[in-house]
Amino acid sequence: MNPVRVWGNGCYDVFHFGHANFIRQAKMMGDYMIAGVHGDADIMQNKGKPVMDQVERARMISAVRWVDEIQENVPYGNILNTLNDYNCNFCVHGDDIARDANGNDIYQECKDTNRFRECKRTEGISTTELIDRILLGTDMNFFGPEFSRKGSKKKSRIMPREYYEEKIKEFTPPNSFPKEGDTILYTQGVFDLFHSGHVNYLEKCKNSEQNGFLIVGILSDEEVNRVYGTFPITNVHERALALLSCRYVDQVVIGVSFCVTEEIISKHKVTVLSGNISPRSWLCEGCITLSTGSHIFEASLHNPLMVAPSLNSISYKWNIN
Ligand code: CTP
Repeated sequence: MNPVRVWGNGCYDVFHFGHANFIRQAKMMGDYMIAGVHGDADIMQNKGKPVMDQVERARMISAVRWVDEIQENVPYGNILNTLNDYNCNFCVHGDDIARDANGNDIYQECKDTNRFRECKRTEGISTTELIDRILLGTDMNFFGPEFSRKGSKKKSRIMPREYYEEKIKEFTPPNSFPKEGDTILYTQGVFDLFHSGHVNYLEKCKNSEQNGFLIVGILSDEEVNRVYGTFPITNVHERALALLSCRYVDQVVIGVSFCVTEEIISKHKVTVLSGNISPRSWLCEGCITLSTGSHIFEASLHNPLMVAPSLNSISYKWNIN
């Protein structure tokens, strides 16, 4: 039987886990998922100026683990023609109506010919929501009761913890355990408003070793606030979901502290610390502690990672850019 080819077009502006969840659900409806990303000019004409340009938007979608193929700069309308061009069985869209500049449903022809499928939009996240949060500022945690700024008419749309936990289960790849012969790599960071710079960085981390199994630690919201003095725009669960949707990430550790701890290294059997671990990490008490072979690093601005004698087998690659 021929594989069922699924089409999912969109603007995918300011990437978030709602986009990834849409693609995940669409892929489950068939075998082969093609994501179509609209070009800047078409979006400008039909919706308004996108925040991210088409190259950045396409890069983000190409990194989503459930995407098999990506088509860039696809037209906003004429989706039935596009389905035929790419030999797709049907297209999928969230349960809101997408209209063109003239107010027409861009999927009407596909609906009329039974080549349209719908999936539920992911609650609690959207590009508009993120832009609103950026405008509100980062002096609040976008999770829990602090979200609504005093005096603001804006209502909190943050979802309960259980909602995120359920999604995290759905996003976790089935093979999220290292195999025999894998090199376990670890990096960590904030990864707020997951963007193409993060994706490029994670790809390099993942490919820095053959058979690399990449574990990514995500700083908790409180830790971001403690170290940087602001809260992130996306809360720790939202950041985890964006990372889990990325094909270069094999596992996440949610809510780590700024300093890489010995506990992380030993619990996850990390053999390589990968990427740019912030040079500020040496400032913290009890921070990482690393060695490469017999070389012991001193804690200094130039060698930010301190060494624990117990971690002699760890090597690290930083500034891999
Ligand atoms: N989508 C979704 N859940 C969200 C956001 C988007 O299921 N929270 C779906 C849309 O319904 C669409 C696809 O993701 O099928 C791509 O959406 P896009 O064209 O980027 O734009 P919007 O629907 O306007 O959503 P957003 O503004 O959040 O990008």
